[in-house]
Amino acid sequence: MRVVAIINQKGGVGKTTTSANLCHAIAESGKKVTVIDLDPQGHLAVSLGIRLQQHGGIDEAMRGEKTIQEQIIQVRHNLQLITSGSRLQEIEQLTGNVSHRGDLLKNALQTGLDDQDFIFIDCPPSSGLLVVNALFACDEILIPMTSDFLALQGLSHLMGTVKRFEKVLKKHYTLWLVISRYTPNRKISKQVLNILLSHFPERVLATAIKETTLLAECPSFGKTILEYSPESRSAKDFRKLANDFLEGKVMYGRK
Ligand SMILES: Nc1ncnc2c1ncn2[C@@H]1O[C@H](COP(=O)(O)OP(=O)(O)OP(=O)(O)O)[C@@H](O)[C@H]1O
Ligand SMILES: [Mg+2]
Repeated sequence: MRVVAIINQKGGVGKTTTSANLCHAIAESGKKVTVIDLDPQGHLAVSLGIRLQQHGGIDEAMRGEKTIQEQIIQVRHNLQLITSGSRLQEIEQLTGNVSHRGDLLKNALQTGLDDQDFIFIDCPPSSGLLVVNALFACDEILIPMTSDFLALQGLSHLMGTVKRFEKVLKKHYTLWLVISRYTPNRKISKQVLNILLSHFPERVLATAIKETTLLAECPSFGKTILEYSPESRSAKDFRKLANDFLEGKVMYGRK
């Protein structure tokens, strides 16, 4: 089982869009996927058509009040969701020794998901305790990146955090970058992409997800792009991205 955290402390870069659509595409390819909404905003659940604001989710599992099995919602064939729950924000605000609070998620995931091929974790736009929990729990980090200058600044901060965790936890994360809101006709997009390719050789997944109206629309219908517009370019891109991820297909050279 691969545990993958979708992380970027910058807001609005496409973490939740990538979580919903990539997980659905991987599930459609036949793999068993569980996706966890680790963001108190609860946008992943909404994107997948679930509106259960008062329902408990990963919050109760992290507190040890419920098991993971009790919190699972089967949302599509091969795809199960664990919602954030209404009290996840309280965990973000816990104080005290981080090493004692950082493994709540890892512990919650120990049992009950043995039959799954993948666990994905949609992280909030912060670098607080919830993201610390995701870093304790995961082996792989997938970073959605927009192609603008400030996103690059944020990425170097994130990489500093990742390096610190690798040292403290004595582990090595497999890193993936996804170009998530690509606007190919902007000069800056290509420039940022080339900087990413030179700093992260063989880590940028081969398919860039373009900024499109359809992708912006589908969350309001509680549908993924594979349902909302299955023949669209964006749906094809997410299917290709799923394949890239499963086969480790990355971009090479300058664009
Ligand atoms: N490729 C895309 N094309 C068009 N709109 C997109 C695309 N990717 C994301 N969006 C839209 O941009 C907004 C932010 O995306 P999303 O919620 O996925 O980002 P996020 O990183 O999860 O945000 P947050 O940091 O708040 O959790 C949403 O309204 C989403 O529908
Ligand atoms: Mg989000």
